[in-house]
Amino acid sequence: MSDRLDELRRRHANAEAGGGEERRERQHAEGKLSARERIDLLLDEGTFVETDKLVRHRCNDFGMEDQVVDGDGFITGYGLIHGRTAYVFAQDFTVFGGSLSETNAKKIVKIMELALKTGAPVIGLNDSGGARIQEGVLSLAGYADIFLRNTLGSGVIPQISAIMGPCAGGAVYSPALTDFTFMVDGSSYMFITGPEVIKTVTHEDVTKEQLGGALTHNTVSGVAHFLAHDDTECLQMIRELLSYLPQNNRDECPHRASDDPGDREDVALDSVVPPASNLPYNIKDVIRRVVDDGKFLEVQALWARNIVIGFARMDGRSVGVVANQPEHLAGCLDIDSSTKAARFVRFCDAFNIPILTFEDVPGFLPGTAQEFGGIIRHGAKLLYAYAEATVPKITVITRKAYGGAYCVMGSKHLRCDVNLAWPSAEIAVMGAEGAVSIVYRRELGAAATPEEQDSVRRAKIAEFEERFANPFVAAEHGFIDDVIEPRQTRPYVIRALRMLATKVDTMPRKKHGNIPL
Ligand code: HXC
Repeated sequence: MSDRLDELRRRHANAEAGGGEERRERQHAEGKLSARERIDLLLDEGTFVETDKLVRHRCNDFGMEDQVVDGDGFITGYGLIHGRTAYVFAQDFTVFGGSLSETNAKKIVKIMELALKTGAPVIGLNDSGGARIQEGVLSLAGYADIFLRNTLGSGVIPQISAIMGPCAGGAVYSPALTDFTFMVDGSSYMFITGPEVIKTVTHEDVTKEQLGGALTHNTVSGVAHFLAHDDTECLQMIRELLSYLPQNNRDECPHRASDDPGDREDVALDSVVPPASNLPYNIKDVIRRVVDDGKFLEVQALWARNIVIGFARMDGRSVGVVANQPEHLAGCLDIDSSTKAARFVRFCDAFNIPILTFEDVPGFLPGTAQEFGGIIRHGAKLLYAYAEATVPKITVITRKAYGGAYCVMGSKHLRCDVNLAWPSAEIAVMGAEGAVSIVYRRELGAAATPEEQDSVRRAKIAEFEERFANPFVAAEHGFIDDVIEPRQTRPYVIRALRMLATKVDTMPRKKHGNIPL
């Protein structure tokens, strides 16, 4: 017995040593924590239960039989985050560069399957040189096995990826399949083909950082959702995100009691919208004044900033917020903002999180870049996402709701439950100037002098604004349930959420829809 105990302890010690002190020091010198340190910071203290610590690789090629580390370089297991179960895997870069082998892929698959069966999130901490080169196709098979579980788990359990080192080649597709990707600035990168291959094929010069660093994927490509400045911040941010999410698609969102009264009015909201319709304001000021305690966790804060998405709480429960941002591109919808918001709406719908929309949208962004880039297809994604969502949906029009964008942004016609507008709302097919130049083209052309033309134009614009640029026509038709004083937005939204708490809505029976991808 004592021999076996010694053996067990030796194996555990071997697993915990990973690739050894020297490699761990190198990791620290690069500003990175070790895989075990990361797990300790991610989970509630002392709750980690490791699985498959004794697993060994089975490769006998290239001298691998002499290089065996118990656990095979991936640390897997489960523990608690805010007292709720979470599964975690962390790649240990000190063991064969955190590369994926046949056996450590099986470790990941095992916890993913447990997560699916028990209904709890999976968090992957990625820091890896990719497929273990010595294992060839066995390693590729391991990746594909993980991709399958990512896909099967999508919409069933929240899946989160943190990129905390290299993540290259096909390995990027596991994070891409998960719901949220975090990247650490300065020490992480993701790309399909690296700078050397790019140089050979397209003759472009680009550094790893420019190509796939945290800033690139948070500002340019939209691949990442959050940017952290170091490992510790990244792990804290994951914990914060999880505090808004249910454990699975049948679970309710966690409730966090708040002292912020449900009937709180905010007079500052009455003057947020500037007097001139073409002046910007920051929609995040509106969001923070409406939600519990002013707390808003923004998602993809640095990309497609003409739309704002993120999580907040109302009455202690999570809501997903989608809001046009007049401070960027006047809040127009374009390709990136449509896909950004569409995926978010679908996430919220999959996980029973009500969607609160703040709308101030002059329309879709004009231009050949948008049309050639497929704005028709991409804009349709957002429309589709809103239309198929069956969670409680509440829309507040703060100012502009023009054209097709009016229909898309959580309109009544896409079965939104409660549609409210502020008195400053302008709901019409298009802005007054554009409308007048089309509808009165003949009258304007017939004017004898430029002065006369100008006076006709101004009169018609005023008439058009008076008739259409308001919330009342839509309210007369019941497309808006009520026009409310801005200061009363929070009480109105909270009452609506309480009323909708028991909402049941369904989709027609189908295998799945065909969202315009
Ligand atoms: C086996 C690997 C490895 C790998 C790194 N190592 N990558 N071992 N398989 N894929 C080992 C190194 O031999 C080294 O071992 C240790 O990890 C650290 O690597 P270094 O190169 O010293 O580290 P660094 O200078 O920081 O460079 C990191 C790196 C580089 C940029 C990731 O290691 C690298 O380019 N690795 C190969 C990446 C790659 O081409 N992978 C396959 C991609 S294709 P020692 O013993 O010296 O410490 C792929 C397909 C996936 O992944 C497909 C899914 C469908």
